[in-house]
Amino acid sequence: MLREMLISDYDQVMALWGNTESMSLRGADSRDNIALYLKKNPGLSFVVEKQGLVVGAVLAGTDGRRGYLQHLAVSVSSRGEGLGKQLVNTVIAAFAEQGIAKTHLFVHSDNKAAQGFYESMGWFPRDEVRMFSFNSSSELNV
Ligand SMILES: CC(C)(COP(=O)(O)OP(=O)(O)OC[C@H]1O[C@@H](n2cnc3c(N)ncnc32)[C@H](O)[C@@H]1OP(=O)(O)O)[C@@H](O)C(=O)NCCC(=O)NCCS
Repeated sequence: MLREMLISDYDQVMALWGNTESMSLRGADSRDNIALYLKKNPGLSFVVEKQGLVVGAVLAGTDGRRGYLQHLAVSVSSRGEGLGKQLVNTVIAAFAEQGIAKTHLFVHSDNKAAQGFYESMGWFPRDEVRMFSFNSSSELNV
């Protein structure tokens, strides 16, 4: 069953993300931060449950003009069943309802499997863009 992510899913979602290759979890993924994220972006993040267990999850939010898709994961034993595609399509439809047509995501350059997955669904790489970050904290893991 696919449904909206609730903060009560946090422990199961973090367990899924923690067991997912190519997924970097940071201080930004604390319970408080995810609770705030879900509150600021209602109806945009989703989980897939099988017999009460979370087997897929995606975080999504908007700055009002673009959509951002993050932390998409499907548990290894449930891959290849179309769940990843369903999660992505549900996010895109939710953005479209808010009038947002373009969505961005970040994927590690080495993560060719995810890139193949996204390209198979019509996403296109932006080789002309480089990501820059700025860290105002002395901590690295923010
Ligand atoms: C990427 C991921 C979410 C895909 O989930 P999934 O449920 O196995 O994917 P689906 O079954 O929905 O596949 C959807 C489509 O993508 C295609 N696809 C999947 N992996 C692919 C790959 N490596 N190359 C090309 N196409 C691929 C499938 O063939 C399918 O196409 P179809 O609908 O025509 O049959 C999952 O592999 C995962 O959790 N990976 C690790 C985490 C990760 O890398 N997340 C992305 C971070 S940005």
